[in-house]
Parts: sequence; structure tokens; C-alpha cells
Amino acid sequence: MAGRPGRTRTAILISGRGSNMAALLAAAADPAYPAEIALVLANRADAGGLALAAAAGVPTAVVESRPFRGDREGFERAVQAELLHHDVALVALAGFMRVLTPGFVAAWEGRLVNIHPSLLPAFPGLDTHERALAAGVRLHGCTVHLVSAGVDEGPILAQAAVPVLPGDTAAALAARVLEQEHRVYPAALAWLAAGRVRIAAGRAMVAGAVAPGTALLNPLPGPLALLTPTPRVAGPE
Ligand code: GAR
Repeated sequence: MAGRPGRTRTAILISGRGSNMAALLAAAADPAYPAEIALVLANRADAGGLALAAAAGVPTAVVESRPFRGDREGFERAVQAELLHHDVALVALAGFMRVLTPGFVAAWEGRLVNIHPSLLPAFPGLDTHERALAAGVRLHGCTVHLVSAGVDEGPILAQAAVPVLPGDTAAALAARVLEQEHRVYPAALAWLAAGRVRIAAGRAMVAGAVAPGTALLNPLPGPLALLTPTPRVAGPE
């Protein structure tokens, strides 16, 4: 696929259904979006996202991880060959369920981005929604971050928070978070592709980013009287 000048050639790595990948493809369908999706690569031939990518006219590749069991470097060499072959400059992990070696992470330092379904550093790893419910947190969400050697670690680019509601199941909470993943990932990838991200002392700065003017409280405080202790009235005991 011929690249448009000025757009950063980007690969998306997936393992499954690819709804975040679809959100990135939809954003990149706009010629003004600073990233061009040059490749969708899956580590499983049955990843549902592959068909979506092919239907969108995006080149796809499969590097099965299973035959490389016990040989993570070998798997990553095969992935790297595909990335180089498609001449990509950025890699976006979107539900890519493989832990990458420090060597691969170092080779892509500052150019490898991930989305994780929690407000990191809370709940790294798997089953984030179940663990958020078990912990009783009132706010949960998702994080887009640059990838460093630790699992679900690295400079944070963007987060979105959602309320945890009474009676939530992990599936209901996951759906609420996923909706925000699809908003925040295209925005964060655009900043990276446009060269607006600077790292200093392990923290990411995004040029021109605007912070919200309000806080998100859950539950809402309600009438002020509920928040303040009842004043003691002086008088005879
Ligand atoms: C997403 O919720 C993503 O945040 C999560 O997997 C899901 C993939 O869904 N990623 C991780 O847990 C990585 N640690 P998708 O295939 O529909 O985008």
C-alpha cells in the first residue's frame, strides 16, 4: 500500500477480536490522521481482527507464536522481520497477549505503545475488571502507555476513567471501559505519530494536550449536609 507523505507507518499487533485495532483503523481512514496503518500482525491465525483488517484493505500477517514455545527471541525475530519488511516506524499493541523480551522492547523504545484495561499502575496483568470489582474501587478505566521492559509498565500517555456501578459484573465493567479504550487509543497514537510526545525522567509530556476542567467523583456527594459532620450545638448537657 502506497504511503501518504507525512504519515507515520504503523503496525498494529493483535491476538484476538481486534476492536481497538478497528478503532485505530477507523481513525486512520481520515487522511489527516498522522499515522498510516501499514500492517496488522497477529500471533494467531484465528484472531478475529485479521478479517476486519483485510476487509479494510490493510496488509495483514500472521506469525504464530505457538511453534515458538520456549523461544521468545525466535518468535520476535520473525515479528521483527515482518515489521521491517513493511517499513513501519511505530508499533501499537492492541490486545496482543504476548510478553515481549527486553531486547525487543529496547529495539522499539519510544515507538512501541500499548493499551491496558486498567488505570495503571493499578491492576497490571490479566483479569483487570474482576480484580477492580474485588478491590471495591469506585473508578476504573484504561491506560495508553509507551512500553518499557516491565509488564504493563512505561510512560503513560493517556488514561480514561469510568465509574464502577452498583451491581456491575466484570463483563458490564469491561464494556464500559472498552468504549473509552476506543476513544483514548486513537488520540494517543495520533500524538505519538505526530511527534508530540516527549519523555523526561520516565514521564511522558504531550505537546498541546488539554486537561479536563472537572473531577470525576463516584458516588456523587449529594447534598452538602451529607458530607459535613453535624455541628454540635452548645447548651446544657
Ligand atoms: C482490550 O481490552 C485491551 O485493553 C486488552 O485486551 C483487550 C483486547 O480487545 N489488553 C490487555 O489486556 C493487554 N494487557 P480487542 O482485541 O477488542 O482490542
